Amino acid sequence: MADRQKIVYITRRERFNAAHKLYNPNWTEQENEDFFGKCSNKYYHGHNFELFVTIKGIANPETGMVMDLKKLKKIIKESVTEKLDHKNLNEDVDFLKGFMPSIENIVVAVWDIMAPQIENGKLHSIKLIETENNFVEYFGE
Ligand code: NI
Repeated sequence: MADRQKIVYITRRERFNAAHKLYNPNWTEQENEDFFGKCSNKYYHGHNFELFVTIKGIANPETGMVMDLKKLKKIIKESVTEKLDHKNLNEDVDFLKGFMPSIENIVVAVWDIMAPQIENGKLHSIKLIETENNFVEYFGE
C-alpha cells in the first residue's frame, strides 16, 4: 500500500451569470422557435452558471496537494469566468465568437483555454451547470 500512487481528483467551482440565446442564423425565425423554443428568444435570457474544473494527480509529498487550489482559482477567474460574467455570450466573448453558446460548446472552449495552463495530463474535466436539472461535462476527448 505504501508505494502505490494514489490518484486524487480535486475540483474548483466558480460561478458567473450571463445571457445567451440558442439561435441558428441559417434557419428561419420559425425553425429556430420550433427547435429551440424559449431558448431562442431574440431578447436573450440569463442563467446563473456554475463551472467546475477538475484536476487529477498524485499529491506532492512536500505540499500534500495535487495542485494549489488558490492557483487554480486564479487561472479560472482570469482566463475564463471574468470574461463571461455579466456578458452576452452570443456577442461579447472573444473565445465564443463563431459558436452557438450552448453549454456543450462552452465547455469545449473552456477546456481549450484551461488545458495549456495546467500541468500536462492533469486536467480531467470541465463541468458546466446551466440549471439545476441541466448540465454538461467534457473530458477532452
Ligand atoms: Ni439558456
